[in-house]
Amino acid sequence: MYKPLEITKDIFYVGVNDRTKHLFENLWPLPHGVSYNSYLIRDEKTTLIDTVDICYSDLFFHKIQSVLGDKPIDYLIVNHMEPDHSGSIGLLVARYPGIQIVGNKRTVEMLRGFYGITANVVLIQDMEELSLGRHTLQFYMTPMVHWPETMMTYVPEKRTLFSADAFGTFGSLDGGVMDRQLNPERYRDEMIRYYANIVGKFGSPVQTALKKLTGTEMELLCSTHGPVWTQKENITEVIGLYDRLSRYEADKGLVIAYGSMYGNTEQLAEIIACEAAENGIMNIVMHNLSKSHESDILRDVFKYKGLIIGSPTYNNKLFPGVESLVAALQNRNLKNRFFGCFGSFTWADASARELIAFAEESDFEFITEPVIMKQGMLKEVVEKARGMARCMAHKLVSGEEVVPNNKVNCH
Ligand code: FEO
Repeated sequence: MYKPLEITKDIFYVGVNDRTKHLFENLWPLPHGVSYNSYLIRDEKTTLIDTVDICYSDLFFHKIQSVLGDKPIDYLIVNHMEPDHSGSIGLLVARYPGIQIVGNKRTVEMLRGFYGITANVVLIQDMEELSLGRHTLQFYMTPMVHWPETMMTYVPEKRTLFSADAFGTFGSLDGGVMDRQLNPERYRDEMIRYYANIVGKFGSPVQTALKKLTGTEMELLCSTHGPVWTQKENITEVIGLYDRLSRYEADKGLVIAYGSMYGNTEQLAEIIACEAAENGIMNIVMHNLSKSHESDILRDVFKYKGLIIGSPTYNNKLFPGVESLVAALQNRNLKNRFFGCFGSFTWADASARELIAFAEESDFEFITEPVIMKQGMLKEVVEKARGMARCMAHKLVSGEEVVPNNKVNCH
């Protein structure tokens, strides 16, 4: 029933699309779905690279069968144990009882912990090789991209890298599986959103992994999510994007994220945005934290170098949506940003104080003192807000580097 999908000689795509789930990890919206990619290598030793979410195991097994018929699978390589890729291992073992499962020390612990699997497990070390016949597998340990057991598998004969979640993206594969069969532009923002939400905390391990890959020739880049990258310019772009994101480098642009109960704080945000635009910032994204999903805000914050956050004081704290965003940014160790903030209050100011505390703990350049509004919009508050916008525009337009000066003397 399924036509085998051979992405290069003797390597087949046997992954699936999920257009049903609303939330990835039960957290992150999937407006365009997601794919769980798995690959099958046909050789003297038949080998599967990762599995798929258990909800799609039936379809997955049909796809494997379309390639192999009734032949057995010799090896399963487990690059990543998160259940969106390991979920079908138990059923796979039941169907192919002779299969040997290949992983590192952390994988072996997790196979036992998640699935009670201890038999037919092959323990491999960093840079170890396994011959399948015409193909060799080389194992690169890439811990904390984004789980501790994460590794990548390289096939030198095909210059093919199976990279686990790295270089992955949200978005299902609608028709084509390889980049030359589809419009890669569709995935760019979703790749940034995927990175910011799933991998964003682990910039340093991503850098370590990228260094390990230096000099590795790649004609096929096979992630566990999203398109198979086959075009040289796309492979270069995708790796370059991961490199920039994991260094917390960003484009010229400004995110203004704010909470607002009755619209006063929002008006301050509008004033800042208009002034920033008048002063030459073209990429401005405004997020009302009561409406925008945090995953979209994180994407944009990873994308742009300017960040201004505004919040009313609520129960002597930050407005709840702002508090949640600040926690998410701290969790991801966001750095290398020009930062400004504004706060509003009615009888006791707390929001500006908390935003200052956040900035002081981060590697940001605090561009100017916070704008603080009591109750309504006074002329001097408007002037200060415009001043902050002009200062941000100057920093971004001039192309200055961020100089962390997170000690703010404006309490
Ligand atoms: Fe796609 Fe970390 O699982």
